[in-house]
Amino acid sequence: MDYLKIFAPATVANVSCGFDSLGFAVDEIGDEMTFVKTLRKGVEITDITGANLTYNVDENAASAVVKKMLLDADADFGIQLTIHKGFSPGSGLGSSAASAAGAAFGANKLLDNKYSNLELTKFSMFGEEVACGSAIADNVAAAIYGGFVLIRSYEPLEIIKLPVPDELRLVAIHPQIEVRTEDARNVLPKEIALKDAVTQWANVGGLISGLHAKDYNLISNSLVDIIVEPHRKKLIPYFDEVKTAAIDAGALGAGISGSGPTIFALCKGDESMKNVYQAIEKSYQDKGIDFELFTSKVNQEGIKILK
Ligand code: HSE
Repeated sequence: MDYLKIFAPATVANVSCGFDSLGFAVDEIGDEMTFVKTLRKGVEITDITGANLTYNVDENAASAVVKKMLLDADADFGIQLTIHKGFSPGSGLGSSAASAAGAAFGANKLLDNKYSNLELTKFSMFGEEVACGSAIADNVAAAIYGGFVLIRSYEPLEIIKLPVPDELRLVAIHPQIEVRTEDARNVLPKEIALKDAVTQWANVGGLISGLHAKDYNLISNSLVDIIVEPHRKKLIPYFDEVKTAAIDAGALGAGISGSGPTIFALCKGDESMKNVYQAIEKSYQDKGIDFELFTSKVNQEGIKILK
């Protein structure tokens, strides 16, 4: 294989209770990337559209990942890549993760599938480190594996793919402001009270049980974050209003997507999704802040080959 075009999905990390350990992939939004094998060794970015990102191969999350993989594999060829961003960096929808995971996936195809999904996740985490200073796995693993994932352990890295109930739907609003992941991590406390940890890990267990049992009530009761959300919501204008509007309209739960500012709501079924969409739209339309609003199923496949 000498050429490849792929789609790398946006992802929702944390999913309220699972900071740095839960994530799922989105169906409708993502990046497109192309990969061309070259005789000249090394990596080069030939085009970036849709966002203002660096062409410096050591500073761009995608090229940094490809470079690392080519070196690790001792490849006798190089790769030229193009990146078309389908959504903005700093949105909380795993923008750097889509680039990093897409890069790992694409490079792996040109390397004849040398690496496993777990290894691709590790390479992608390096891309996250390049982009935001932390080697986080929740977005990249969701993009690579598709569906819902649990990062059961970081050292050693262990990813568990979770089932997704058929009727689960996403509504997400992206207020057009940028929140840098690094900044959103800096507002978090270094230590938490034991009783808060108990509440949080019980909710993670509840959410995972709910996904397995297709128990939407349990999913709803478990979509609670008492540790991260109280600190980060201050970075997101009108967060509480949106969350209340979504839940009043029937959402199972709502919270911050990754490090924000996107706010996600999970719903049961298309009818509920439409109601929640309208309620969120109404809650934000008079705020003087531009926003994008979208709905999606959970993407079960992860990264896809387009051609
Ligand atoms: N889990 C990470 C965080 C995701 O919340 O900081 C970053 O997008």
